[in-house]
Amino acid sequence: MLVRPRRNRVSETIREMVKETILRPANLIYPLFLVDGENIKSEVKSLPGNYRWSLDLLLPEIQECIDLGIQSFILFPSVDDSLKNSTATYSYNDKNFYLKAISVIKEKHPNICLISDVAMDPYSSDGHDGFVRDAEILNDETLPILGKMAVAQAEAGIDIIGPSDMMDGRVEYIRKELDEEGFKNVGIMSYTAKYASAFYGPFRDALDSAPKEGDKKTYQMDPANAIEALREAELDESEGADYLMVKPALNYLDVIQLLKQNSNLPIAAYHVSGECAMLTAACQNGWLEYEKAMPETLLSIKRAGADIILTYFAKDYAQLLKNGKITL
Ligand code: PBG
Repeated sequence: MLVRPRRNRVSETIREMVKETILRPANLIYPLFLVDGENIKSEVKSLPGNYRWSLDLLLPEIQECIDLGIQSFILFPSVDDSLKNSTATYSYNDKNFYLKAISVIKEKHPNICLISDVAMDPYSSDGHDGFVRDAEILNDETLPILGKMAVAQAEAGIDIIGPSDMMDGRVEYIRKELDEEGFKNVGIMSYTAKYASAFYGPFRDALDSAPKEGDKKTYQMDPANAIEALREAELDESEGADYLMVKPALNYLDVIQLLKQNSNLPIAAYHVSGECAMLTAACQNGWLEYEKAMPETLLSIKRAGADIILTYFAKDYAQLLKNGKITL
């Protein structure tokens, strides 16, 4: 036998030398759920290890993450039902606790990267990402609401806007609003290929944001489609997006690869709540070993072509690295 691939695997040192994919904490974005009030740390039952935090307890948590090497966070608000309405006006209200929290966090940690969520669902009495009339999710009527939300977040000090709503034309609309208000350096991480997936369940539990009627299939993509993701990617690029995102990640590794091969923008992948919950549940049952299955999972998303991964495992990954359980 002249050729023996196993020769390149004989020692740890050689394996490290030929390693193709490296995932650094700098590539990770940690999603955090925020709730109004004080002294609150309430666990999301369907996403063990993740909490709805009040700002006072979130600040030390962020500090812990920073100390571990996590520098980027995406924030989602868990809004009281009494503040929700059909036009999501609380999303850009002066008194909005989410906007206040953004300002406080950025003031305390000017060097971290904070990413927002732009969509109506956390604030909508209908639980949809867009404005609902007669059971229809209206596209063009939603855009001004998203624009106001994005500008309010920029005013609060957000670094990157994350439109997750899947309305047509929203990247251009938001870009123009931001520029007009003087926020030229605020980036847009567009949820480019966001699928109408069954894997968002724990997230909707966390925010109590499930649609009251119907589903999200008229705006989120059909899981059967990949070419359509290219169409969305072309549009987002031409509308001024700075990053393209694929969501969920694991069932859509082919789409991640497709966008990576067809775009010069950084590609982000959202390893969503249901994907993390599945793995956590198997590990809690003793069916999988968390310290091995978790990093392998994240690595596979990176290998598929994601430059950036949004994952509820970000902090644990950084912790494993610090403890020497994994290497770069
Ligand atoms: C809604 C939004 C969702 C997620 C992020 N933004 C849920 C949805 O579209 O219903 C899901 C994230 C996750 O499951 O981790 N704008």
